[in-house]
Amino acid sequence: MDLVDRHAKISKDGDTRLVPIPDSAVPVIQSMGYEVIDGSAHSRDRTPPQERILNELSDLPREVLDELPMKWEYVGDIVIIKLRGSAEPYKGRIGRVYAEQLDKSTVCVDRNGVTGEFRRPEMEVIYGTETESVRLENGIRYCFDVTKVMFASGNVDERERMKNLDCTGETVVDMFAGIGYFTLPLAKFSGAKRVIACEKNPESFGFLRRNIVLNGVEDIVEPVLGDNRDLPGKAFADRILMGYVQITSEFLPKALEMIRPGGIIHYHDTFYVNEYEERIRTIFEDACGPGGFEILGIREVKSFAPSVSHYVADVRILSRRTRRTLSQ
Ligand SMILES: C[S@@+](CC[C@H](N)C(=O)[O-])C[C@H]1O[C@@H](n2cnc3c(N)ncnc32)[C@H](O)[C@@H]1O
Repeated sequence: MDLVDRHAKISKDGDTRLVPIPDSAVPVIQSMGYEVIDGSAHSRDRTPPQERILNELSDLPREVLDELPMKWEYVGDIVIIKLRGSAEPYKGRIGRVYAEQLDKSTVCVDRNGVTGEFRRPEMEVIYGTETESVRLENGIRYCFDVTKVMFASGNVDERERMKNLDCTGETVVDMFAGIGYFTLPLAKFSGAKRVIACEKNPESFGFLRRNIVLNGVEDIVEPVLGDNRDLPGKAFADRILMGYVQITSEFLPKALEMIRPGGIIHYHDTFYVNEYEERIRTIFEDACGPGGFEILGIREVKSFAPSVSHYVADVRILSRRTRRTLSQ
């Protein structure tokens, strides 16, 4: 409506946003029910943050400047960057400059992706103290501590796909729920009746419980702390999410025990790009027999390593009788 002063910056004051307007817009804005206050606004600096960061650090050695990250990730008020070795002696100052120029409170360095059964991240805080924040993505709030719990930003399309599934009336099991990566979008938007979200890491589980409340899905999601192989019940799930890679097939017998005939398993794993279809088929043939399943689709979630990608296969499991007969 051309009511905003585009030369000045929008700013925050607690939960309020202050939007600069020219004097001429005051009557219209007030008639729309907004409060108009007097104050000064900062002029908007159109210089890209990458350029401002390089300007602020321009006295660092050339090799350090050349290797400074020009991409980063945000988790609420936290910035996550990757740093090369040459930057090590200057990391405190680098952290401060990134925080200032990106207007965030904490800067962390992602040291080595994630490791171990719990997929724990290796993060070093180089500026600030607050490591817990809320990431807002596709209408879902994910609260977590970036130093304790992983968040695979590359899985965003898969999280969105879970949101857009039609699971009306279904009972769903998320065997590797984490902080609710897939559980939350599915529970909030897909129409599922019940989602059993199992997580073994107590720290992730704590955030899962908080995120269930934060996203208002308490009536749908049942969080379970523990190993998914101990989940009770047989042939009750309409859909099972297996969002884990590299050793996923070890958990397939348990998934097959819980799925009802005709139910769907979303099976994640990493494979060489030239053999993923064959490998997925073999894994399910070994587990269910050749006629015991139907592959509905396979998609690449993200690149994992040279020539290796993370894939998700949607697999319909046919009758339990077929499976039992074939495995005998
Ligand atoms: C890699 S994370 C989930 C990744 C997620 N799907 C995403 O999109 O980022 C896998 C989670 O499974 C949990 N986990 C590993 N083994 C488990 C088990 N046997 N039972 C339950 N949870 C398990 C880990 O603690 C971790 O939080």
